[in-house]
Amino acid sequence: MILNDINFETYHKNYPDKDGYFGKYGGSYLPPELVAPMHEINDAYMTICKSSKFVNELRRIRKEFQGRPTPITHLERLSTKIGGAQIYVKREDLNHTGAHKLNHCMGEGLLAKYMGKKKLIAETGAGQHGVALATAAAFFGLECDIYMGTVDIKKQAPNVARMKILGARVIEVTHGLQTLKEAVDAAFDAYCLEYKDSIYCIGSVLGPHPFPSMVRDFQSVIGVEARAQFLEMTGELPDAVVACVGGGSNAMGIFSGFLNDPVELFGVEPLGRGTKLGDHAASLMYGTEGVMHGFNSIMLKDENGDPAPVYSIASGLDYPSSGPEHSFLMEKGRVKYDAICDEESIDAFFELSRMEGIIPAIESSHALAYGIKLAKTMNKGSILVNLSGRGDKDLAHVIECYGFRDGEK
Ligand SMILES: Cc1ncc(COP(=O)(O)O)c(C=O)c1O
Repeated sequence: MILNDINFETYHKNYPDKDGYFGKYGGSYLPPELVAPMHEINDAYMTICKSSKFVNELRRIRKEFQGRPTPITHLERLSTKIGGAQIYVKREDLNHTGAHKLNHCMGEGLLAKYMGKKKLIAETGAGQHGVALATAAAFFGLECDIYMGTVDIKKQAPNVARMKILGARVIEVTHGLQTLKEAVDAAFDAYCLEYKDSIYCIGSVLGPHPFPSMVRDFQSVIGVEARAQFLEMTGELPDAVVACVGGGSNAMGIFSGFLNDPVELFGVEPLGRGTKLGDHAASLMYGTEGVMHGFNSIMLKDENGDPAPVYSIASGLDYPSSGPEHSFLMEKGRVKYDAICDEESIDAFFELSRMEGIIPAIESSHALAYGIKLAKTMNKGSILVNLSGRGDKDLAHVIECYGFRDGEK
């Protein structure tokens, strides 16, 4: 497929370029002390990702430890109720630890092991990346420090407990809004001091080169599996693929399998409480170009040009920017982006739970809510939604804020 001068048949060979740019987005904007460590990670990854030993080891881990491939489920009852397109979900909630995050964490952990590092450092929002990284650290016998904002620690208590049980240190970040952006700041600062023996494992397709492409590569297992599975199940490709976008890793993972196909791709951002700055985290829809956390992308800025405060009920989506590849694919028109508010995501959360027996993560509920909306506009056809994670971590918060939706608290 060729669209706006981009040949998607050869896309993965050409993007990003050697400096980590997707068009004008991406790159590496770093304090001088981090330039050499990032080069070290890039060089190691570029060498290792081509070695059959690394590739085969990761394949074995995916099958024997993660439980991959995850299935695709046809939501028959929900689709019949909607009466439009058929909805299918790719079940990343069934990936070990309950979300897609483990796909890149096992890759990053294996890379750290090959590089002789002793510790994994990262931030987490919803706690899924933290749990996944703590799992990888335990599996590979590495230390693990996870930075997490006070607000998220309260909202995602079960995941905090899981990280600690897995042997990670959870370090509370008490400044600013005490959510994901501040956690990234703190993890970066820690890495600046500890880069010799540790590796920074970014939780999404964000940060300086090589993280946006490296995390995408590790997550592309979702798209590769999903494409083959969908063809086998239905004999054709879906008409549309939908995924939620926080930093954008689950979306890039599934989109990468369909970029060269005649399949519409939709990224769904969190509209939170509304369109006012501070009430949402729909950075691609309402943001402008800027540099943050070492990369150039589209971001939400305050009146001083600094990252704006953001909000979403979904801790994993409330980040003021998105991965550079998303900005590029939006600019080129290959992926369309839209947003879903808190209430709509909660409706989808209960709908999937009660119609299909699957409790989704609130992040994934954003994608499902959009899939349901889209299905209603189509008389026929099929939509594949990436169900990026399961909702166990969200139960207490949802019940506290919304009750059980049947008149009983
Ligand atoms: C279940 C789930 N889905 C989606 C996300 C958003 O991350 P990304 O946009 O990188 O997929 C998160 C982040 O924590 C998550 O836990």
